[in-house]
Amino acid sequence: MKLLQALVYQECGMHFDSRRTHFLQDRLLRRLKECRMDSFYSYYRLLVSQEGKAELAKLVENLTVNETSFFRNQAQLDLFHKHILDGLLRQKQDSRDFSLRMWSAGCSTGQEPYTMAMLVADALSYHILRNPTGHAMTLPKPLVPPPWKVEILASDINYTVLRIAQEGIYNELQMASVDYNYRLRHFDKVGDRYAVKKALKELVYFDFHNLKTEYLPQRNDVIFCRNVMMYFDEAEQKRLVEKFYRCLNPGGFLLIGHAESLMGLSEKFNMIYRGNGTAYQRIEVKE
Ligand SMILES: C[S@@+](CC[C@H](N)C(=O)[O-])C[C@H]1O[C@@H](n2cnc3c(N)ncnc32)[C@H](O)[C@@H]1O
Repeated sequence: MKLLQALVYQECGMHFDSRRTHFLQDRLLRRLKECRMDSFYSYYRLLVSQEGKAELAKLVENLTVNETSFFRNQAQLDLFHKHILDGLLRQKQDSRDFSLRMWSAGCSTGQEPYTMAMLVADALSYHILRNPTGHAMTLPKPLVPPPWKVEILASDINYTVLRIAQEGIYNELQMASVDYNYRLRHFDKVGDRYAVKKALKELVYFDFHNLKTEYLPQRNDVIFCRNVMMYFDEAEQKRLVEKFYRCLNPGGFLLIGHAESLMGLSEKFNMIYRGNGTAYQRIEVKE
């Protein structure tokens, strides 16, 4: 168990403290059964062998917690929409840079990046209404009118959730937190489910990224990494926050989960707190 625990930590940063060893043991036993093995040690030997790479990926998938929802943590999203996006769009337009790059790191089945896309589309049309760029407007009005460009990268370590996210089809229960205004504008009803419309889908692209690795997507204006770090230990959290610092543009924003905090992890971010929502802004420090 200890060897397997260390291997999982080394592979993806997930840490299993005494409250979560039962979960780890349960998932390991399931994989052992599937692989027709009768000891943890033989399973460990398989995982560290060349032939064991696919099984290691499968184990990691089985250990991830993929709980998510649309419009999760409304207070934080209000802060993102009304304060962060509003400021970013103004600042970008002033510097004649019409591109926004965001990243949902640990996106699970896609509700988080699609929520980001809906909010960015809203913020952008409101911004353009108040600050016209003088570009001719084509009809029907695109979600992201030129010269603006919006890219939302959504990544995860679990291929199964990435496939679901890319498909972008959700049932009534998953749609519970999406109000009718958003449903009408951004989803098509397919039978008794809702499919994300093409225009919204085009703002988001999905990719595999393991947050444990060093090479992560750079030059982001905003990173959402919510409810992911809570499964890592403090050392791994510190390393990840340092990597996020480098993955952000100067003055960029990091949004983490409601139960997570940067306290004790980094002094390179300023905390922004409004109406119960929290975000962190990169401070420019001399390296
Ligand atoms: C609880 S979900 C959070 C989903 C979404 N961010 C939210 O807050 O609703 C955590 C996600 O992080 C992913 N994850 C865990 N460890 C990871 C790693 N090392 N690299 C990338 N993604 C990881 C899991 O696969 C899972 O989909």
